[in-house]
Amino acid sequence: ELPPPFQVPLPVPPVLKPVGSDGTSDYYEITQQVAQLEILPGVRTEAWTYGGSFPGPTVATRSGRAAVIRHRNQLPVPSVVHLHGGHTPADSDGYPMDLLLPVGWDGARSIPGMPGMEHHAAGRCVTGERTNTYPGHQRAATLWYHDHRMGFTGPGVWRGLVGFHLVHDDEEAALPLPQGDRDVPLMLADRSFAADGSFAYPAADPTDPAVPGVTDDYMNGVLGDVILVNGAPWPRLDVDRARYRLRLLNASNARLYRLELDPQPSGGDALVQIGSDGGLLEAPVTHDTLELSPAERFDVVVDFSRYEPGTSVCLLNTLGTGRTAEVMRFDVSSRRVTDDATVPERLAAVERLDPDAVVATRDFTFRRSRGDGWTINGELFEPGRDLARPALGSTELWRFSSDLHHSVHVHLNHFQVLARNGDDPGPYDAGWKDTVGLRPAEAVEVLVRFTDYAGTYLLHCHNLEHEDMAMMADFVVE
Ligand code: C2O
Ligand code: CU
Repeated sequence: ELPPPFQVPLPVPPVLKPVGSDGTSDYYEITQQVAQLEILPGVRTEAWTYGGSFPGPTVATRSGRAAVIRHRNQLPVPSVVHLHGGHTPADSDGYPMDLLLPVGWDGARSIPGMPGMEHHAAGRCVTGERTNTYPGHQRAATLWYHDHRMGFTGPGVWRGLVGFHLVHDDEEAALPLPQGDRDVPLMLADRSFAADGSFAYPAADPTDPAVPGVTDDYMNGVLGDVILVNGAPWPRLDVDRARYRLRLLNASNARLYRLELDPQPSGGDALVQIGSDGGLLEAPVTHDTLELSPAERFDVVVDFSRYEPGTSVCLLNTLGTGRTAEVMRFDVSSRRVTDDATVPERLAAVERLDPDAVVATRDFTFRRSRGDGWTINGELFEPGRDLARPALGSTELWRFSSDLHHSVHVHLNHFQVLARNGDDPGPYDAGWKDTVGLRPAEAVEVLVRFTDYAGTYLLHCHNLEHEDMAMMADFVVE
């Protein structure tokens, strides 16, 4: 039996304190560990966590300062951590073969999903601890970190390996946007639970943790029947009659959301989008509904003073059915408050990438393979084989096309959507993006400029089951 909705208060993940700081950098430590959590009321669930919580602690950094994060792996399995949306040198980007083996791992032991010693050739494996450096040469944005292990990203994230990473900067801090308790990250993720309370994930062969992927029934991705926000089922949040900044992240393996508030405030335009994957927009964009593909972020301001005191406002997912059509509830208080926050008409300077600067145009088609698996340009992922070699400093036009729904993500640099289906960008394409949703048979053109770091990076579908079933490719910036 599923718990009744809107009982559990919304948790907000704690912000991680640095263990040290100097003139240029802040240093952090995170232990990846098994934890026993109470996610469903009165039920114990064993999770794989960053630092003992799900979501993991929020890393909050300052643009221009490096974040140096040491991860220690006390999980029973290898792991790989990736900062999604990070502008990161390749050796800290979390290539799927760059395994962090658990503390005490026997070097001679074979690695699940990686027969033989091939991983040593294609990746950089270390045991126990790994330190990643995120230089912080990027603007304020809502990023997130998650597991990215070769073949096992789906089950790793499903079991809890996910957290927020917020970058702040002066441009954003100078704006009168909602702050403090009124700046709330919301991580949307669906899960299913077995009768004993454990996370239920339909691995292809549940008895063998070495077999990646899922069975044919789940080719389109794994959906859960419980909607979690910040790790709590259908939570509720008391809000003042004031503006709130909601940083929405779709951290689900495969679920799509079309969010709307119920009731809508009179006059509509309830959701004022101020940011996307890569930070603030030039100017706000208003919406009645918001569509989120896996891994996309939308930063919105909602003005709860547009509701009568005492109103309960549900956040609905109109693409869900039954219980998955509900996400969470905001309960608008009747107390009087002051609200100095506003949404300025001009938010930030956003450089437009120049289509005339394009030096190469490339096509990437995302399709199911004839056998098992998912392909890009007809190829299943093979580490070390690239589909593109853009030059460092150059701007390219990348065209993505799809058979079914895919959520296309590019590592290293954010991009700008130039066209959707040969026409103008869609309502959810504004600003700097790192992930773009393609509905069946759609085509999206994006401009991307490769800056600062050469090396091997990834392009993949962020439906995590598609990713694990090989819808991923290297590109090499040279
Ligand atoms: Cu969010 Cu390559 O990942
Ligand atoms: Cu896909």
